[in-house]
This record gives sequence, structure tokens and C-alpha cells, in this order.
Amino acid sequence: MKAKKLIEVALPIKEISAESVRDKSIRHGHISTLHLWWARRPLPVCRAIVFASLVPDPLDDNCPEAFKYAIEMLLNTGLGKLHYKPYKDIPYTSVVDEMEDNWRNRLMMFIGKFSEKCQANMLAGKATSPKEQLDDWSLIKWENKNNPQILRIARELIFVAYQSDKRPDATWEQLHAEFDKLYDAIPKAETALYELKDRHIESDKVKKLEADLQAAIDAFQNEMPSVFDPFAGGGAIPLEAARLGCRSYGNDINPVAHIIERGSAEFPQKYGKPIVYSKEEFAKLYDKTGEEMAKETDRGITFDGKYYHIPNRLAFDVEFYAKKILAETEKEIGDLYPADENGNKPVAYYWARTAKCSNPSCGAEVPLLKQFYLANNKSKKVYLKPVVNGDKIDFEIINGQCDYNGFMKSRECSITCPCCGSVTSASELKKQFKDGVTGEKLLAVISESPQGRVYRLPNEREKLLSKRRFNDVQRPSEMMEVGNQRNFNTPGWGIDRYGQLFSDRQILMLNHLVKHYKKQVGQFSVNGYSKALITYLAIWIDRIAIVNTSFGVWHTGGEKLERIMGRQAIPMTFDYPESNPFCTSSGSALNQLEWLGRYFDAESNNSFSANFANASSGDKKQFDEKSLTSVVTDPPYYDAIAYADISDFFYVWLKQTLAETYPLTFSTPQTPKNEECTALKHHHNNNINEARRHFEDKLTEIFDAIESQTSDIVSIMYAHQSTEAWTTLCNSILGARMNITGSWPMDTEMQGALKSDMSYLESSVTVACRPSERKGYADYDEVKRNIRNLVKAEVEKLYGLGFRGADLLTACFGQAVSAFGQYKRVETAEGDPVSVGQLLEFARESAAQALLEGVPGEPQTKFYCGWLQMNGMSECDFDDVNKYTRVGVNVEIRSLQSDKLLITDGNKQHLATAEEHVGANRHWGTLPTDYLISQVHRMMLAYLGGDEALMNKMVRELCPQSDAPQWRLLDFLQGHLPEGKDLTAAKGILANAEMYRQRCKEAYVPKEGELDFGE
Ligand SMILES: C[S@@+](CC[C@H](N)C(=O)[O-])C[C@H]1O[C@@H](n2cnc3c(N)ncnc32)[C@H](O)[C@@H]1O
Ligand SMILES: [Zn+2]
Repeated sequence: MKAKKLIEVALPIKEISAESVRDKSIRHGHISTLHLWWARRPLPVCRAIVFASLVPDPLDDNCPEAFKYAIEMLLNTGLGKLHYKPYKDIPYTSVVDEMEDNWRNRLMMFIGKFSEKCQANMLAGKATSPKEQLDDWSLIKWENKNNPQILRIARELIFVAYQSDKRPDATWEQLHAEFDKLYDAIPKAETALYELKDRHIESDKVKKLEADLQAAIDAFQNEMPSVFDPFAGGGAIPLEAARLGCRSYGNDINPVAHIIERGSAEFPQKYGKPIVYSKEEFAKLYDKTGEEMAKETDRGITFDGKYYHIPNRLAFDVEFYAKKILAETEKEIGDLYPADENGNKPVAYYWARTAKCSNPSCGAEVPLLKQFYLANNKSKKVYLKPVVNGDKIDFEIINGQCDYNGFMKSRECSITCPCCGSVTSASELKKQFKDGVTGEKLLAVISESPQGRVYRLPNEREKLLSKRRFNDVQRPSEMMEVGNQRNFNTPGWGIDRYGQLFSDRQILMLNHLVKHYKKQVGQFSVNGYSKALITYLAIWIDRIAIVNTSFGVWHTGGEKLERIMGRQAIPMTFDYPESNPFCTSSGSALNQLEWLGRYFDAESNNSFSANFANASSGDKKQFDEKSLTSVVTDPPYYDAIAYADISDFFYVWLKQTLAETYPLTFSTPQTPKNEECTALKHHHNNNINEARRHFEDKLTEIFDAIESQTSDIVSIMYAHQSTEAWTTLCNSILGARMNITGSWPMDTEMQGALKSDMSYLESSVTVACRPSERKGYADYDEVKRNIRNLVKAEVEKLYGLGFRGADLLTACFGQAVSAFGQYKRVETAEGDPVSVGQLLEFARESAAQALLEGVPGEPQTKFYCGWLQMNGMSECDFDDVNKYTRVGVNVEIRSLQSDKLLITDGNKQHLATAEEHVGANRHWGTLPTDYLISQVHRMMLAYLGGDEALMNKMVRELCPQSDAPQWRLLDFLQGHLPEGKDLTAAKGILANAEMYRQRCKEAYVPKEGELDFGE
């Protein structure tokens, strides 16, 4: 028997959640800022899961001695003794409890530990700034991604775990010495190569030193575990596996993802390294720009009279060549973006599309504006005031409040003509768009000043330019996936090709950029390094393309451009900002380049790169049997994101820039769609069942291959909350002869952040799986009992850790599966098979029931919750007695009606909303003796009505403690109420719960008479 892995036993999920939520707001140098990709996993989760999937639980009886020793030596001596000491009092529990100082807990504290400051704050109910939450010695902390001391410990622990698993008799001393030897050989080989003068010139010496370095890396990594991500996407998991020193592999079927992966986790680690040039060679390679760049002090470049020492060759070259390409492009077409009289370059141009008023006797060209503000924030209001003259519509720019209604109705998209008052319907407008008779009008020019953005009307030259038509504009002709109406809204307006997303001037600029790019990269010699260089220049052009469409939005609050596809979709827009690629502001080409530079700064430090394949996963021949140690992955969430469809936006540009460098990757006309593992019906004859089957089959096929290729743990992250999506996932896991042995929810989204798709969870759940032998048949009743017990314990645990609502219910699925996944088949007493879907539905019900059991209070409140769980808020037949007897509470139906908890209408009845229940009398629900549900309904009404005073009073009086029953009830309601006011209220109160509780602690000085809720 082998020891369980840590991930099957314990994980510091509070700490990981805290750092993961923070991760979403980290920008500079973060992997997500290199190139847009969807549904990225936060780095702290990825790092923690990879690590915990590879190391054993040190308290396991079968844990190798050498590994226990390793913890003792690395985490319990020297500085580790202090830093990884478990909590004196676990800060996120309400009781005083010391965390035992044992090996397992030391390992947990190494992954992530709350800082002293944060611990104190948590115990005092205070917030801590995200940056200061985790201790500076935590493995998963953002600042530690390149920390040599901490990474060394992590790598050595993984090394010892892997080696002692293979060689149980090896001692710690032996393994420690082996590790040191192999590990320390790498920096030596790096120094030898990177200090070699003019190593860019191929020579035997260079080849030898390169081979030496590769050999040193290989020698080390041959003794480290291999980790594979079959759905690598933006590359976060392979990046983290490589960071931990493992042999790291990633597949993605999508060509765009493949390019991003290599740019994220292969090239900077391989090529973002120092180089030394002799003065002569430097002069040969670089012109004036290069010399200037070398002189800028913040780059860390030194010149010792003979040699230039450049800390990051890749970063330097990407910038140098991008600037060169940009300068050549600007030389050719820069005059299309003229500077003003004072020589200032505008930062953006504000345009509106125009359509003809449908009144034949008017025919005015109406700008399709829904509103007129250019800037609308606290400190500044600027708008375009319409000036109508006959059938001419012009504008003035005015500072101040705008009282005009836009010409176009917001939702309907019809227009009312400011000249004649006629209405032109959306369908008439659509026809004009489809017939290609609409126009565009330049309304304002935006520039930058020390006081912020400045808006002015276009000058004569700009007006003239704006009307200029270009004949030779070649547009990408690839079609959008028009069957995908969720993500593509423009085809209804006749815009169904990618080339139509750009104005003439934009497309001309992009075409010139691509032309000069090709000219430049055509001069590079063909080798691994230049491939990396070429890739980044193409990524840079992608970045420029996405901020230069005519479908971005001018954000009047922040006065900035919002690029398209922020929410994985391209909605129709009627007015748009066009950025000036040649300025130096945020939409410019130079600004896009800066983001690449930041990424190089952040990720070039590592010596270990990941290996990527652009392939559909599931190939049994890709890896030898059991040759992978672990799989850590994040498969597509059912139908949540149409990766292939939306990534075509980039594919059409990358095909132009990279087809020669990556001929196979870009051999198809558009991104491959059929093999994608998603459940999208428009890819399957518009048949939802076919789409589901495809998803499940594909996932099973991929898991099946993985099961045969992996020797240890398969960890799967999943962020969909529907039972259906989970059923498919579980079917695939079980279908691939594995079972779930650990399950962990972790917060990954910022609370209260706008969720683009309601099927996302605020947390994702990671399940750890292992190959498992199925035992015969099981009796449904017994399995149900097991599920109920496991789920109940899980709910209690997770509730205590702060998980709530739908996230909490979903988090229980993993436990449920472990209960029935061990059987070949679960049967009812009648011998009928029970499906995974039914079992999960039962698990969800049990979780809800467990929560309900925790709902204290009188039968009336329990009734309300049980009914809600069973029937929701919709109408039910009066005599459908079954439905409420199942709830198992004993109350008279008549009293429920008179208490206004059930609203009767003829022979139908429904559960009362907060308003229906307590709305009629403002005292109801204010007293501690009232039903719990009445109190909570009163709080909801107070919240909705903005009655802060009442809200504070109620919290103070009724539920100042976080474990008060009112909060638990609100939680339950949040998890079960349908969309509507009540749900909004429950969510709103919970989101601000900490604030309310805090406020009542701080501000409360009891005054006489204040306790009285009456008049
Ligand atoms: C949830 S995303 C992974 C995101 C990634 N963890 C990150 O942090 O960026 C799932 C990925 O699976 C890829 N995918 C879908 N079907 C696939 C298949 N059959 N083979 C390989 N990859 C596939 C998609 O292109 C997508 O990038
Ligand atoms: Zn008109």
C-alpha cells in the first residue's frame, strides 16, 4: 500500500482561496495579461494543486520515512521552524483552537499560511489588504513565484516524495545529497552559457554549452515527476508544474491557446536569459534605437567599454524589433493619424455609425447614439450636444449635465429622428446595415493633457480624412460562427465576417503592420530562438488588433476604451472609440508592447519550461503506460465557453503572422471545432442531446487515456454549478475506471464581481481521482444513507469555512461520488439501476436538507425553507399534500395561510415573498420573538428600501454574531430563491454581512429607549 497524497487528505483551502481571489486583480506580469484567454485558473490554486497532488500525506502510515524527514529538515528547522509553525488559534473559526504542530500541518502552512497580521485581523473580525493576507513565506504567494529559497524547498520536497516512492529504502541524507548535486549543476551550466561572449553566433563552443545546460536540466528533471494538463488553455497549470521543477506537459486542441501556452510557459523560461555582446556585434545587430534602449537606466543593461551585458535577451529583442516594425508602419501611414496644431497626437477618435431616417421626405443621416456623454464621472461631465439644422445633425461639445435623450432607444435599437421626429425601427435599421448603406461619422477627437482627457470637435483635416475611402483594403474574410447566437450578436446586423469588425483605417493600419512584420521576421535565421521572437511579435499584433476594432466601447466613467470580448462575446455597438496606435497612451501599440515586457520580467527567471502539443487530447500513444506521475487539469465547463468559436478572432490574424512558423498549427481555415470537448448544440446539428453525448464521450475518451498513462493522482478542477454538468463529469470519471478520493472547493472569483455567466461558481471545486476497482452491486437505500452522512459532514465543515449557497451544494458532489463510485451499479429494491444524475440530485437534496437542519427556529421557518426547496416560489395545487409532507414539518396549513407564509389564490397557492409576508405591517418581523423567517424578510425589505438605520438596528439586536441563525437562513435563501427582488436582497445582505456586523460593533453605544422597535 502506498500513502495517500496530501490532496486526498488535507488542503489549506481558506488560504488558497484568499490568494486566488487576490490573483484575479494582479495585472503587471501576470500570465493573464500576455494574451486574452478565457476561464483562466488563478495561479495559487494551480500551484497548490500540483504540489499537493505530488507529495504524500506525511501522517499516513505508509508515508516513506525519507519524506517525513524532509519535512522535519526543511520545514521544521532553521527559519522554517518559525515560518511554518501552525496557527496558535485557527483564525477563521469562531472557537479558540490551536492547530496541532504536526508534519501534515507544517506542509499545509508551507503551501499557504495567513500572516500574523491577517490572523489577528481575522480574529478581530477586521479585513486585511489582499497583499498582506498571506505570510511572506507561503509557497503560493504571488511575490514568491521566483523566490529561490522557497522554490528550492518545494522542489526538494517533490523530489524526495517522488524518489522515496520509487525507492522506499533510500534515506533522507542520500536523497538530499542527490538533490543538491543535480539541482546545483543547473545554475552552473547556465552561468557558463550566459556569460559566454557573443553567444548569438553559432559555434562549437556555444553548442557545447547549450548541450551541457540541457543535459543538466534533463538530469534533474529525469528524477522529477511528470505532470500533464490535457486542457491547458492559457497554460496556467503547466506553468506552475514547470515552476515546481516537474516535467510539465500541456495539450490544447485550440491553435490560439497553443501559441499562448508557448509564449507563457516555454519561451520566457528558455530564452528570457542574459546575453553579452561585444561592442562590434551590438553595433551590427542594433541601430540607434537599440543604442538608446541600452542607455535607459531602468533596464539594467551595462556597458563596460567593451561589452554590453543585457539581462534579458528576449525582452530586449522583442522590444527592439516591435519598435522597428512600428516605426516603419508609422512612416508609411502615420499621416492618417495627424497631430494637432501643437504637435500633440490624439489618443482616440470617437465615432458613431449612421443610418438614414426612414421618413422619405427627411432622409437625415442620423448618428446611432444611445446617449451623448463622452465623460460622465464624479469629477467630470462632458457631452455632445446635438445641433439640428434642417436635415443636418451636428454637435457641440459641452461641459456639464446632459439632459438630452439619445436618438436610439437602448434595448429596442429603434431611432427617433431629431430632424423630423419619425421613428425608424430596428428591423429597418438592420436592413440598411445588411444592404451596406449605413455610414460612419467622426464626432470627437480625444487627447491627453496633464488634467486628463480632453475632448474636441474634429478639425478640417481630420474631417477630410474621416471621409476618405480606401480602395485597397484587404479584410479577413473568415466567417463568424453565426449559429452561436449567445456569443455573436452582430450577424443579425449583417456583420458576420471577422474583417467587418474593423474600420477602413484600422484594417489598413493592421495590414501595414503585418506587412512590416513579415518583412522583418523574414530576415531572421531559422532557429528556436527566432521562433520565440516571431511568436511574441505576432502576439503583439494580436493585442493591437483587439484594441483596434470598431466594436470597442468608450467607457464614459473611466474615460477609456473597453475592448471587445471582455465577456466572451461580440455584441453589436453603434458608436465606438478608435485608438491611435501611434500615440503613447493606453490603447497604443507601445502600450501593448509594455505588457509583453512585464511578462518577461515576471516569468523569465525559471529554468524549467513546459512542453506543449497542439492536439486533441485522448491519444493513448502520446504517453507510455503509467509514464505520467500526475494529471492536473481544468476541462471545459460543459457549454459555458465556446473557445473555438470566439478564438477565431485571433486565429484570422495569427494565421497571417504565424502560418509559416507553425505550418501544422495553422493548417485549417479556422479553429478546429468538431473535436472540441464542449456541449454546444450549434456544433452538433442544433441537437442538444447530441451535443451532450459528444461532450461526455470526448471527456470519457480523454480520461480513459489519462487513466492508463498516469500512475498517481488525477486532479480535476471544475467550475460549473449545474447537476447536469456534474453528471457528465462524474460519468466520465467513473467511465474511465477512476473514483473520486478527495474534493475541495476554493474561492476563485472576487466576491460581488460581475459574473458574466450565471452558471459559473464563485468557487471552483477540485476533485482528486484515482484508478479504482469497482465492487459489485449496491443497494440504493444504503448508498443514500452513506451519501446523506458524508454530505452532512461536508456541509458542516464547509459552512464553517465560509462556503455558501450554490457553491456549498456543489462542493458536496465530490463526497457523494466517492460513496457510490466504488460500485459497478446501484440498484433500487426493485432491481432498477440508479443513474449518476439521480445520485447527484439526491446529494444536492441531502446537502440542502443538511443546511435546513441547521436552520434553527420554529416549524414555520422550517416549513418555508422546505417548501422553497421542493417547489420554489411557483404556484402549486392546493391539495398537493405530498409536497409539503416531504418537508417533514408539522404545521397547520391554515395557520400558514393566516401568517401569510402561504398565499392562496383559488385552489392554487405559492410561497410568500418578503413583501407579501411582512410588507403589510412595518412592525412584523422586528421582534426577537417573531418567526425567524419574518425577521429575515423584514431585513430584506429594509435592505431593498435602503433603510440603513433599520438594517443596522436589526443586525445589532438580532444577529450581531456571524453564527446567528438569521445568517444561516439568509444563506439558505440565497441558495434557493429564484431570480428576483428577494434573491437580490439576500445576496446583497450577505455580501455586506461583515460590514453590518462590524458597524454595529463599532458604532453601537446603547442609548435609553433604543432597544425599542416600536414608535
Ligand atoms: C477551462 S479551459 C482551460 C483553462 C486553463 N486552465 C487556464 O488557466 O488558462 C479548457 C481548455 O480545453 C481546451 N479543449 C477543449 N477540447 C479539447 C480537446 N479535445 N483536446 C484538448 N484541449 C481541448 C479548450 O480549447 C480550452 O482551452
Ligand atoms: Zn427624419
